[in-house]
Amino acid sequence: MHSVRSVAHLPKAGIFAELRQQLAGLLAGERDGLANCANFTALIHETLPSLNWAGFYFLRGQELVLGTFQGKVACVRIPLGKGVCGTAAERRETLVVPDVHQFPGHIACDADSRSEIVVPLIQDGRLLGVLDLDSPQPGRFDREDADGLGTLVQLLLQGTDFERLTD
Ligand code: SME
Repeated sequence: MHSVRSVAHLPKAGIFAELRQQLAGLLAGERDGLANCANFTALIHETLPSLNWAGFYFLRGQELVLGTFQGKVACVRIPLGKGVCGTAAERRETLVVPDVHQFPGHIACDADSRSEIVVPLIQDGRLLGVLDLDSPQPGRFDREDADGLGTLVQLLLQGTDFERLTD
Protein backbone atom coordinates (compact mmCIF):
# COMPACT_ATOMS: atom_id res chain seq x y z
CA MET A 1 0.00 0.00 0.00
CA HIS A 2 1.46 3.36 -1.05
CA SER A 3 0.68 6.71 0.51
CA VAL A 4 1.92 10.09 -0.70
CA ARG A 5 4.21 11.99 1.67
CA SER A 6 3.59 15.74 2.05
CA VAL A 7 6.11 18.01 0.31
CA ALA A 8 4.36 21.32 1.07
CA HIS A 9 7.21 22.51 3.33
CA LEU A 10 9.97 21.94 0.73
CA PRO A 11 11.53 24.37 -1.81
CA LYS A 12 10.96 23.48 -5.50
CA ALA A 13 14.20 21.48 -5.90
CA GLY A 14 13.36 19.51 -2.78
CA ILE A 15 9.84 18.81 -4.02
CA PHE A 16 11.19 17.28 -7.24
CA ALA A 17 13.82 15.23 -5.37
CA GLU A 18 11.09 13.86 -3.11
CA LEU A 19 8.80 13.24 -6.10
CA ARG A 20 11.54 11.24 -7.85
CA GLN A 21 11.78 8.95 -4.82
CA GLN A 22 8.04 8.56 -4.48
CA LEU A 23 7.63 7.87 -8.20
CA ALA A 24 10.39 5.25 -8.13
CA GLY A 25 8.48 3.53 -5.33
CA LEU A 26 5.23 3.60 -7.31
CA LEU A 27 6.86 2.23 -10.46
CA ALA A 28 8.85 -0.53 -8.75
CA GLY A 29 7.78 -3.93 -10.10
CA GLU A 30 4.96 -2.52 -12.26
CA ARG A 31 5.14 -1.73 -16.00
CA ASP A 32 1.43 -1.41 -16.85
CA GLY A 33 0.92 1.81 -18.84
CA LEU A 34 -2.55 2.67 -17.63
CA ALA A 35 -1.76 1.98 -13.97
CA ASN A 36 1.57 3.85 -13.98
CA CYS A 37 0.16 6.90 -15.80
CA ALA A 38 -2.84 6.99 -13.45
CA ASN A 39 -0.61 6.93 -10.37
CA PHE A 40 1.81 9.45 -11.92
CA THR A 41 -1.08 11.87 -12.42
CA ALA A 42 -2.41 11.39 -8.91
CA LEU A 43 1.07 11.88 -7.39
CA ILE A 44 1.71 15.11 -9.29
CA HIS A 45 -1.74 16.53 -8.63
CA GLU A 46 -1.57 15.78 -4.92
CA THR A 47 1.95 17.10 -4.31
CA LEU A 48 2.67 20.03 -6.65
CA PRO A 49 1.05 23.24 -5.40
CA SER A 50 -1.35 25.47 -7.36
CA LEU A 51 -2.51 23.03 -10.06
CA ASN A 52 -6.08 22.80 -11.36
CA TRP A 53 -5.40 20.08 -13.96
CA ALA A 54 -2.72 17.41 -14.46
CA GLY A 55 -2.85 14.64 -16.99
CA PHE A 56 -1.75 12.85 -20.13
CA TYR A 57 -2.78 12.92 -23.76
CA PHE A 58 -1.68 9.91 -25.82
CA LEU A 59 -0.86 9.97 -29.53
CA ARG A 60 -3.34 8.06 -31.72
CA GLY A 61 -2.54 8.59 -35.38
CA GLN A 62 -2.29 12.35 -35.90
CA GLU A 63 -4.31 13.24 -32.78
CA LEU A 64 -3.69 13.46 -29.07
CA VAL A 65 -6.42 11.65 -27.14
CA LEU A 66 -7.23 12.31 -23.47
CA GLY A 67 -5.63 9.87 -21.04
CA THR A 68 -5.41 9.62 -17.26
CA PHE A 69 -5.87 12.94 -15.48
CA GLN A 70 -6.96 14.75 -12.33
CA GLY A 71 -9.11 17.87 -12.65
CA LYS A 72 -12.22 18.99 -14.48
CA VAL A 73 -13.49 17.14 -17.55
CA ALA A 74 -11.34 18.09 -20.55
CA CYS A 75 -11.43 18.12 -24.35
CA VAL A 76 -10.84 14.61 -25.66
CA ARG A 77 -9.05 15.07 -29.01
CA ILE A 78 -6.34 17.60 -29.90
CA PRO A 79 -4.83 17.49 -33.43
CA LEU A 80 -1.02 17.63 -33.65
CA GLY A 81 0.03 21.27 -34.02
CA LYS A 82 -3.08 22.63 -32.22
CA GLY A 83 -3.19 24.23 -28.78
CA VAL A 84 -0.31 24.11 -26.33
CA CYS A 85 -0.41 20.30 -26.21
CA GLY A 86 -0.44 19.77 -29.97
CA THR A 87 2.30 22.37 -30.48
CA ALA A 88 4.60 20.82 -27.85
CA ALA A 89 3.96 17.37 -29.35
CA GLU A 90 4.65 18.48 -32.92
CA ARG A 91 7.83 20.36 -31.91
CA ARG A 92 8.82 17.56 -29.51
CA GLU A 93 9.81 20.17 -26.96
CA THR A 94 8.61 21.27 -23.53
CA LEU A 95 6.51 24.44 -23.64
CA VAL A 96 6.16 26.75 -20.65
CA VAL A 97 3.27 29.19 -21.14
CA PRO A 98 3.20 31.90 -18.44
CA ASP A 99 -0.13 33.36 -19.67
CA VAL A 100 -2.40 31.06 -21.66
CA HIS A 101 -4.41 34.03 -22.95
CA GLN A 102 -1.31 35.13 -24.87
CA PHE A 103 -0.76 31.75 -26.56
CA PRO A 104 -2.32 31.76 -30.05
CA GLY A 105 -4.68 28.81 -30.39
CA HIS A 106 -4.69 27.88 -26.71
CA ILE A 107 -7.52 25.41 -26.03
CA ALA A 108 -9.41 26.41 -22.87
CA CYS A 109 -10.66 23.26 -21.15
CA ASP A 110 -10.96 24.81 -17.70
CA ALA A 111 -11.68 28.55 -17.63
CA ASP A 112 -9.67 28.82 -14.38
CA SER A 113 -6.39 27.92 -16.13
CA ARG A 114 -3.99 30.87 -16.43
CA SER A 115 -0.62 29.18 -17.06
CA GLU A 116 0.43 25.82 -18.45
CA ILE A 117 3.37 23.48 -19.03
CA VAL A 118 3.43 20.63 -21.54
CA VAL A 119 6.18 17.96 -21.63
CA PRO A 120 6.31 15.57 -24.61
CA LEU A 121 6.65 11.83 -24.00
CA ILE A 122 9.36 10.42 -26.27
CA GLN A 123 10.49 6.79 -25.92
CA ASP A 124 13.28 5.48 -28.16
CA GLY A 125 12.75 8.42 -30.54
CA ARG A 126 9.00 7.77 -30.80
CA LEU A 127 6.42 10.40 -29.74
CA LEU A 128 3.88 8.78 -27.40
CA GLY A 129 1.94 11.81 -26.16
CA VAL A 130 2.29 14.66 -23.69
CA LEU A 131 2.06 15.44 -19.99
CA ASP A 132 -0.01 18.61 -19.44
CA LEU A 133 -0.23 20.65 -16.23
CA ASP A 134 -2.46 23.71 -15.78
CA SER A 135 -2.48 26.29 -13.01
CA PRO A 136 -4.95 29.01 -12.02
CA GLN A 137 -1.90 31.15 -11.13
CA PRO A 138 -0.25 33.21 -13.93
CA GLY A 139 3.44 32.36 -14.40
CA ARG A 140 3.22 29.26 -12.18
CA PHE A 141 5.80 27.24 -14.20
CA ASP A 142 9.49 27.94 -14.94
CA ARG A 143 12.62 26.14 -16.19
CA GLU A 144 13.00 24.38 -12.86
CA ASP A 145 9.55 22.83 -13.33
CA ALA A 146 10.42 21.93 -16.93
CA ASP A 147 13.61 20.17 -15.79
CA GLY A 148 11.99 18.54 -12.75
CA LEU A 149 8.99 17.25 -14.71
CA GLY A 150 11.26 16.18 -17.57
CA THR A 151 13.21 13.93 -15.20
CA LEU A 152 10.00 12.46 -13.74
CA VAL A 153 8.72 11.77 -17.26
CA GLN A 154 12.02 10.00 -18.11
CA LEU A 155 11.60 7.76 -15.04
CA LEU A 156 8.05 6.96 -16.15
CA LEU A 157 9.14 6.23 -19.73
CA GLN A 158 11.92 3.90 -18.58
CA GLY A 159 9.64 1.97 -16.24
CA THR A 160 6.47 1.68 -18.30
CA ASP A 161 5.05 -0.15 -21.34
CA PHE A 162 2.96 2.25 -23.45
CA GLU A 163 2.01 -0.17 -26.24
CA ARG A 164 -1.70 -0.33 -25.42
CA LEU A 165 -2.08 3.44 -24.90
CA THR A 166 -0.89 4.71 -28.29
CA ASP A 167 -0.92 3.82 -31.95
N1 SME B 1 -4.92 23.85 -22.81
C1 SME B 1 -4.55 22.71 -23.60
C2 SME B 1 -5.69 21.76 -23.76
C3 SME B 1 -5.75 20.71 -22.74
S1 SME B 1 -6.38 21.23 -21.26
O1 SME B 1 -5.61 22.32 -20.72
C4 SME B 1 -6.55 20.00 -20.21
C5 SME B 1 -4.02 23.14 -24.96
O2 SME B 1 -4.11 24.31 -25.33
O3 SME B 1 -3.52 22.29 -25.68
